[in-house]
Amino acid sequence: MYEGLLKKYKEFLPVNENTPLLSLHEGNTPLVPLPHLSEKLGITLYAKTEGVNPTGSFKDRGMVMAVAKAKEDGAKAVICASTGNTSAAAAAYATRAGLKAYIVIPEGKVALGKLAQAVMYGADIISIDGNFDDALTMVRDIAEKEAVTLVNSVNPYRIEGQKTAAFEVVEQLGKAPDVLAIPVGNAGNITAYWKGFKEFNDKKQSGLPRMHGFEAEGAAAIVQGAPIAAPETFATAIRIGNPASWAFAEAARDESNGFIDAVSDDEILAAYQAVARMDGIFIEPGSAASLAGVIKHVKSGQIKPGETVVTVFTGNGLKDPDSAINKVPATIHRLNTYDEIAKHLAAATAE
Ligand code: F0G
Repeated sequence: MYEGLLKKYKEFLPVNENTPLLSLHEGNTPLVPLPHLSEKLGITLYAKTEGVNPTGSFKDRGMVMAVAKAKEDGAKAVICASTGNTSAAAAAYATRAGLKAYIVIPEGKVALGKLAQAVMYGADIISIDGNFDDALTMVRDIAEKEAVTLVNSVNPYRIEGQKTAAFEVVEQLGKAPDVLAIPVGNAGNITAYWKGFKEFNDKKQSGLPRMHGFEAEGAAAIVQGAPIAAPETFATAIRIGNPASWAFAEAARDESNGFIDAVSDDEILAAYQAVARMDGIFIEPGSAASLAGVIKHVKSGQIKPGETVVTVFTGNGLKDPDSAINKVPATIHRLNTYDEIAKHLAAATAE
């Protein structure tokens, strides 16, 4: 029986006899082929569907490790800044471990489902007049002086947990893909995947992918080479102007002969719709940045025909119902009788 990441990948993780083997059965997520998009793009495209994790995002991988270590070290509380997913994961795992979770979020910029999660898991929710970067600066300061453990991805245990996704990709595919495409926000996840691929390659000669990371255009600090004071994108998960793991992301790019590029909100929106309509996977907008990037790099030749590409779908679409409803044109037919519906079916079939 699968019992979670800490047990499965013990030998690769900072797990010792005092580490509580905390788990909500995170990880072990599917690598789903995307046949329609593959055909359209002329590549072999797979999705690592991290939205099926217990709290609906990849953050569970890092959080199970960070909260287990906090518990092991005798912490009573954890704190994080978040665009929503980190806070949902922190809240769930803290509850599970018997710790208190303080979450600091940018006012009005957290998707509804993520906020609902923090409420339900019983987190102490602090909303600030500022963006994610301001919130992160604040919690780093607080965690230095107060009796709370910081569980943002500047906590190295987060990266340790998250690198397990790369192990799974290699195990599922039988080797590393040619390209790993991933959204970039605070840049922890691209750092973690690259570390994971390298460690697995050292042990198992599984090969290394090129890392293609994608920021949202209005929040593309790494691409522009300077922090952005007022980042903007409808993909609120990656609305980040000064990524904490900036240097590690650049190292992943350079060591792997990859790229960090920007995609526009229009490109993100098109990818967000395309994967749901064509291949039946509902992801959140931040996650769609990776597919938008794949589409862009196939067009530009940075991804070559026939290559095997894994796109990381970091979060579940259900987390952000407002984007689905407000950004995608939907027709809801208001019909009440058998005849009306039968007539509608006939007309729609004829289209
Ligand atoms: N995709 C989703 C759905 C995210 O929530 C995040 C980050 C990213 C991608 C980017 O990952 O920061 O490691 O480069 N969300 C953080 C949060 C910032 O607070 O939930 P990254």
